[in-house]
Formats: sequence, C-alpha cells, structure tokens
Amino acid sequence: MTQVERLPRDTGKLIPLVEPWFPPSYADAVRDQVLSGYLGPGRTTQEFTTALAHVVGSPRALATVSGTVALTVAAHAIGLRPGDEVLVPAYGVISTINAFASAGLRPRLVDIDRRTACLSAAGVAEALTPATRAVCFVNFSGYTGRNVADIAALCRQRGVPLVEDAAGALGHAHGGRAAGTFGDVGTYSFSVPKVLTTGQGGALVARDNATFDRAAAYIDHGDLEWRRTNLNRGIGTNLRFTDLQASLGLCQLRDLDARLERRRASYAAMRERLGATLFRVPGGEAPLHNIVLTNRPDDLVDALRQSAITAVRQYRTLSQHPAYMELAVRPFPNADYWTARAVYLPFGMAMTAADAARVADAVVGSGLPLDSLDQS
Ligand SMILES: Cc1ncc(COP(=O)(O)O)c(C=O)c1O
Repeated sequence: MTQVERLPRDTGKLIPLVEPWFPPSYADAVRDQVLSGYLGPGRTTQEFTTALAHVVGSPRALATVSGTVALTVAAHAIGLRPGDEVLVPAYGVISTINAFASAGLRPRLVDIDRRTACLSAAGVAEALTPATRAVCFVNFSGYTGRNVADIAALCRQRGVPLVEDAAGALGHAHGGRAAGTFGDVGTYSFSVPKVLTTGQGGALVARDNATFDRAAAYIDHGDLEWRRTNLNRGIGTNLRFTDLQASLGLCQLRDLDARLERRRASYAAMRERLGATLFRVPGGEAPLHNIVLTNRPDDLVDALRQSAITAVRQYRTLSQHPAYMELAVRPFPNADYWTARAVYLPFGMAMTAADAARVADAVVGSGLPLDSLDQS
C-alpha cells in the first residue's frame, strides 16, 4: 500500500497492550488432552519438546514451568554456584536478573548497545574479568543478529559459558542459526505475550548432552532414573511441564510459520506508517514488541489512552529497582536512554493489521516527536 489511509482517531474499541490468539481447533486439542486422562508430563510433553528441538535445530529440548525458571536451571546446568558472577544487560525485563539473583548468583550489569538494546561484543569484552563465570545475552524483543554471534565467539575464545535468553525470539534466526542456539544453553518463554504461549511455561536447549542431562535431572528431583531405580543420586526439585500445556503448545508449534506471519503483518502495517521510528530487529521477523522512543513518553501514553489504546512504559535500567540498587556502580547511559524514552505500543498475536494501523495513526496524530534509531 503506498497511500496511507487515515483512520478515525477513536473507533471506541479498546486496543489492549497484548492478547493471545487461538483458533478454536486449539481448544479442541486441549479438550482431547483432558479427556485422554493424561495431564502431567508424558507423551504430549515429549512430542512438544521433540517438535521444539526440531524447530530450533537442537538435538533435544526440555520444557519447564517458565522462562525465568529455565534461566535458573540453565545456570545450575552449566555449573554456576551461589556467589558466582554473571554479566547481564543493564536494561530490560526483571525476569532475567531475578533468575540468577534468586539462585544466589551475583549479577553484574553491562550497558546495552543503543541501536539494538542488546549487549554488544565490545561491551562484554570490556566487562569480562577473571571473576566472570558466565554471560547472559538477552535477545531483546526477539533480536537475533550479529551481537549474539560475536558474543558467542568472544565467550568461546575466553572460555566463559554463554546463556542465551531467547525468551521472546522463538522462530528468529541469524546466519541460518536459530535464536537460543548460539550459547552453551538457550532458553525460551511461553508466557502470554509470546508468539507461542502455554499461559506460563518455558524451555531450554543445550549445546552438549551432559549440560542438558544436568538440567533435565534438576527439574525432576536430581535423577533421570529415579522412578525406575527408587534412588536419587543428585538433589533437584520438581519444575516439570504438563501435557495439558503441551497440547496447547504443540498446536502453536505446528502453526509457528503462520503465527510469525500474522505477527509480521501487524508489524508491517505499523512500520508503513511509522517508518524508522518503529523499533525493528534484523532479519525478516517482526520484533516481539512494537516500540517507539520519544522524549515525551508519558504524553504519548496519555494521548493513546484518549484514543482507547493501551501503551505502557515498561522495563528500566535494572539498578533503578530498589532490589538491585547496589549494582549502580557505574553509569549505564544507553540503558537510561531506553528507560527514559521507550513506549511499548500494543503488540501480540491477537492484533490485526487494522488495529496496528489505528495505533500507528494515533501515534502520528499525537504530533509528539519520535526518535529514529540508526539501525542500518
Ligand atoms: C527477555 C525475557 N527473559 C525472560 C523472561 C521470563 O519468562 P517467563 O515470564 O516465562 O518467566 C521474559 C518474559 O517476558 C523475557 O521477556
């Protein structure tokens, strides 16, 4: 479309920040699972993880209760112990840092690269010290590009394990390699805003079998054989997925291309109107979120509310949270830039191209200045 049609400023229907989207056939699959009588982790969970491993090109995948827990399990699987230092991006969702800090690890913040809101190889190289036991790269809003490939190479060279938090990047790839498979361990989230959601849920993939087995044993009481042997050789806990969730997840995995296409279509409708002021990620996929940056973020949120559109300011420089104030040992100018200016517009699977156009028109109609990130 070359001619951008202006839609009415307020159509009356509230556009929420995010809503999942399921065709009725998915409900039939969940109903069939319930009627089968198998609800706990069993054959459908196995089918789901096998399909997931296939999609991301990894030998095996392990499903667990959330993306946050998948990161904690990843830390355990690569041998991190309480007190160990992990580098994490200074800006973003609280889940990543909490996953490590709640296990007694010591997160250290590294500023993000302004263009991508991800860690850069230069930033990580500068931050690595002999005390660093792991690096966590977050694929911000699905970003899967050079930064993660370069950081994976750097970590290999320096002998530091890399955890890739690909929570929102399922289906994204760079150089033929799937998000989540660049590091020693990669994790995914199936929370409600994601392209694939099971309500709550997460998964993990690992480069080597021993790491994978440690993760698999940990989420099932520390031993992969204990139900057969009645002996537990390690300490673990119960963080397993359920067949009920897997039945819903499996439908979406089978439809993953179509779901990604649906997301691309709503993003394209917004991008057509907002151009380079709408955050993008490299490659052909849409970012998970629709983000614009402005020096008047609260005014933009208010203006959109007038048009029955829910937008929010979310995420911040992590050392601004009372729980992590002691990590403010140096300035994080790029994290602060994103904290001060990012507005998260409606996104997600239920959003149609028409809704996306209405949101973008309301952003343009607000007359507020928007930044353009140089993402060339
Ligand atoms: C980058 C990132 N990491 C981790 C998580 C945590 O996932 P979950 O909500 O499934 O625990 C999220 C969830 O939004 C996320 O966006």
